[in-house]
Amino acid sequence: MLFVHHFPSSAKKFFQNENFAALLVPPLLILLPAVHSQCIKDQQQSLLHLKKSLQFDQSSCRTPLISWNSSTDCCSWVGVTCTSNGHVVGLDLSRETISGPISGSFANFSNLRVLNLSSNTISGTVPGFFVKFSKLTSLNLSGCSLSGTFPNEIFQVPTLQTIDLSANFKLGGSLPEFPKKIGSLQSLSLSETNFSGSLPDSIGNLKMLSTIDLSNCSFHGSIPSSLFSLPLLSQLNLSHNQFSGELAFSNVSSNLVTLDLSFNNFEGQISVSIFNFRGLQSLNLSSNNFSAFPFNGPQQLKNLTNIDLSYNSLLSLYNGTDSSYSSFPQIDSLNLAANKLGTIPYFLRNQSTLSSVDLSENHIRGKIPHWIWSFDQLSNLNLSCNYLVTLEAPLLDSKVKTVDLHSNQLHGQIPTFLPSAIYLDYSRNNFNSIPSNIGDFLTNTLFFSLSSNNLHGLIPASICIYASNLQILNLSNNSLSGMIPQCLTAMRDLSVLNLARNNLTGSVSNIEVTEDSSLQILEIGGNQLRGKVPKSLAKCTILEVLNIGNNNITDSFPCLLKNISTLRVLILRSNNFYGGTECLNTNGTWSELQIIDLAHNNFSGEIQGILWRTWQKMMDTKNGSLLKTVPTKRNVGSHTKRKLSLVALESPEATNALSCNRLGGPSCRDNSNAISPLEYSVSVIVTSKGFEMELVKILSIFTLIDFSSNNFSGPIPKGMGELKSLRVLNLSRNAFTGEIPSSFGNMRVLESLDLSQNKLSGHIPPQLVKLTYLASLNLSYNQLIGRIPTGNQFSTFPNDSFTGNKGLSGYPLTVDNKAGFPPPPTVNGRPPNSGHHREVNWDLIIVEIGFTFGFGVAVGSLVLCKRWSKWYYKAMYNILLKIFPQLEERIGIHRRHVYINQRWWRR
Ligand SMILES: *[C@@H]1O[C@H](CO)[C@@H](O)[C@H](O)[C@H]1NC(C)=O
Ligand SMILES: *[C@@H]1O[C@H](CO)[C@@H](O)[C@H](O)[C@H]1NC(C)=O
Ligand SMILES: *[C@@H]1O[C@H](CO)[C@@H](O)[C@H](O)[C@H]1NC(C)=O
Ligand SMILES: *[C@@H]1O[C@H](CO)[C@@H](O)[C@H](O)[C@H]1NC(C)=O
Ligand SMILES: *[C@@H]1O[C@H](CO)[C@@H](O)[C@H](O)[C@H]1NC(C)=O
Ligand SMILES: *[C@@H]1O[C@H](CO)[C@@H](O)[C@H](O)[C@H]1NC(C)=O
Ligand SMILES: *[C@@H]1O[C@H](CO)[C@@H](O)[C@H](O)[C@H]1NC(C)=O
Ligand SMILES: *[C@@H]1O[C@H](CO)[C@@H](O)[C@H](O)[C@H]1NC(C)=O
Repeated sequence: MLFVHHFPSSAKKFFQNENFAALLVPPLLILLPAVHSQCIKDQQQSLLHLKKSLQFDQSSCRTPLISWNSSTDCCSWVGVTCTSNGHVVGLDLSRETISGPISGSFANFSNLRVLNLSSNTISGTVPGFFVKFSKLTSLNLSGCSLSGTFPNEIFQVPTLQTIDLSANFKLGGSLPEFPKKIGSLQSLSLSETNFSGSLPDSIGNLKMLSTIDLSNCSFHGSIPSSLFSLPLLSQLNLSHNQFSGELAFSNVSSNLVTLDLSFNNFEGQISVSIFNFRGLQSLNLSSNNFSAFPFNGPQQLKNLTNIDLSYNSLLSLYNGTDSSYSSFPQIDSLNLAANKLGTIPYFLRNQSTLSSVDLSENHIRGKIPHWIWSFDQLSNLNLSCNYLVTLEAPLLDSKVKTVDLHSNQLHGQIPTFLPSAIYLDYSRNNFNSIPSNIGDFLTNTLFFSLSSNNLHGLIPASICIYASNLQILNLSNNSLSGMIPQCLTAMRDLSVLNLARNNLTGSVSNIEVTEDSSLQILEIGGNQLRGKVPKSLAKCTILEVLNIGNNNITDSFPCLLKNISTLRVLILRSNNFYGGTECLNTNGTWSELQIIDLAHNNFSGEIQGILWRTWQKMMDTKNGSLLKTVPTKRNVGSHTKRKLSLVALESPEATNALSCNRLGGPSCRDNSNAISPLEYSVSVIVTSKGFEMELVKILSIFTLIDFSSNNFSGPIPKGMGELKSLRVLNLSRNAFTGEIPSSFGNMRVLESLDLSQNKLSGHIPPQLVKLTYLASLNLSYNQLIGRIPTGNQFSTFPNDSFTGNKGLSGYPLTVDNKAGFPPPPTVNGRPPNSGHHREVNWDLIIVEIGFTFGFGVAVGSLVLCKRWSKWYYKAMYNILLKIFPQLEERIGIHRRHVYINQRWWRR
């Protein structure tokens, strides 16, 4: 096998077959056993018969079935393995683009030892004839989109050594009793299937079992203790099921290396007998309901490196310095997140090889001790979401790389003693000042967040001078004052700059951006900035989000942004913008635009097609309501591009390209593992020094146009109906005239339409009845006439939706309502909320959705902890529901796939 790597990878497959010698060049033949064989005629017939019965992609170069051709020896066909006397004993048809159900022609091969059909889109049920395959040792049907009930007698085929049925989400069944005599099964994988029931005690008869993977199924009941005494068992994964009860480890197998029981309903105290697994390396008991773990027991476990006990109910371990805890084995990684610990476990003090410690979401009070920084190998420390108040500096320089202290009660000055840190999150504390030399200590830092503290004073310019690696800087939601240091926006590697909701003053006209700016997200909304939109922003050629809303900027429409083709979100709300919105001297397009909010300015004039005709994103219909995406978990080599990369996986095509790439990447699964469209569409991934985080998720369905409260006039252009992916349209409180375009009936996913308080006339176009997603409609205070259309959603709109139109009649308007309305009441010069649709407060939404649904600059779910998340998730969910009343329904559909969010609900 020494020679294998001289061949292209496509050739490697041949080597797995007994006939590979036939394919080798003569010199190598000498080195290899001669197992050349001639295919038996009737075997060839059966194979050709089989080929004929299969549906596969004839044109794909990836389909070795093409090589099955009667003019050659069938033992030389790709995927076929013969014995030396020409009997077919192995079929490997994995990744062959086969579709359709498992062909009955397979029944002809009852002498098969190995059958591999993995990674095809086979679908349908598993036929029972495999039970008669009396020599079968290996059956692999993973990733085949199979469904129905698996004939469980197949598990009892006595020769079977490996069974892999994983990743068939709709395939169900249960495990049968295993009689004493059948003992050859070594590997059993049913992960990501719908198998259910409980595990039979007789599983203990499968004495050869070494690997069991039943993760992500629907098993329940308690674990039979016979499982733990299987003598050869080394890998046991029962995660993501509904197993329950207490664990008992008597008479255990000493070979177990990895044990994963996470995401079940186990409870009680974990007995010290768990340490009878002497060879254990990795222990994952996360997300159960365990109440205690024997931290004083396991000195014998020399190989233990990873312990994950997160998301349980472990109470404070102890409060003193009990010496029995010093015997705890030296481990690499300890995760105790989301328990009920009251102190930092003292046994940590005796650890020397720790590289990762997660104690987030506990009830730890008091101070962060100096010794926690001093583990030699420590690279990640997460103490977020506790009640820590003070912080002791380390005695020696700490080498820790990622430090997450967000959501505590730390106060005083931002610390400056972690010069090696790449990731520093101090957000949501009570820090009140930033030392002016902070930049000196950020020379390695990529991510720095001080958001939501109580910071006063100026933004130190030392940040731009010394923190030259910074990619994400978040100072939002403080009370910082003074001007934005010019050098800040000029930092070449900075991708995300969030200064929103401070007390910054001065003019933004002169903000400088460098030629090769990396800025992707710039948020300076919610300050007291004045001046004009800085000209140099035109150099931000990869800008995606610009929020300058809620300031005092006085300018005309920023046409200089038109050439930024990547722009997705533009928020100019509540400033003093004036004039028209057309840009004549540019051919630039905003094909990616999802959100444009110009509300509460002094824009005027007619709105014409030029403004939006290129907003491709809002016109796309193919993904109108549901986008399917795959999570991006990539392995990034060290020292890859030191740049934030925005990864967009919006179209189903892109998804397929990724999940089923030509080089044989992950399997061509069906799409049911796709993530809800709510969760994700764009993520910012920091890739640097092998360190990767997913930071921002933009809500892909969020498409919105808000031009309300300006002085726009003239007709609403008919062409607007082309925005077929638009979900929220608000043109209220302007001076639009003419009729409501009947083309609005084309905006099929529109959920909220507000045209109130204009001078619109004519009839309500009956085409609006086609808008079945429409949950909020406000046409009040116009000059509309005629009967209100009926049908679909229209029967659900209240009176308020139509009031103030003298000429309107019909349900839901009562006769009394027909004439003579007082003008709409106002609050502080603005009308109160009308209809269902509340005003969108971007300052709130953009950050808070960022936390929950992942919209905006806020640093994704990393920043959340239970006690915040519960509150946020509910609060934001309510806000979102007001904007997208159909949201609940849509989440419902995808509930199975949003378990990350569900986890926040759990407690
Ligand atoms: C079999 O392969 C040969 C050469 O690759 C080709 O010429 C012939 O047409 C093929 N026969 C069939 C039946 O496909
Ligand atoms: C293979 O099985 C099919 C039934 O699926 C049968 O019609 C055919 O004759 C068999 N071929 C051979 C060579 O046994
Ligand atoms: C089946 O095919 C898959 C994909 O090519 C491969 O990873 C796996 O090792 C094969 N299994 C067996 C038992 O041959
Ligand atoms: C620990 O790991 C080593 C190396 O993998 C292995 O040789 C040894 O048997 C293991 N110890 C136990 C108790 O299993
Ligand atoms: C430690 O716990 C013991 C009993 O659980 C209690 O009596 C003692 O006061 C505690 N000590 C501290 C320092 O909290
Ligand atoms: C904002 O700055 C103004 C003066 O520039 C000051 O009067 C006000 O108190 C500041 N507000 C906050 C919240 O710090
Ligand atoms: C906004 O700026 C204008 C001048 O550009 C100024 O007259 C006005 O007072 C400012 N408003 C606020 C609230 O600062
Ligand atoms: C826009 O495109 C037209 C033709 O494609 C070209 O003549 C014109 O110069 C372009 N205008 C600008 C401002 O680039």
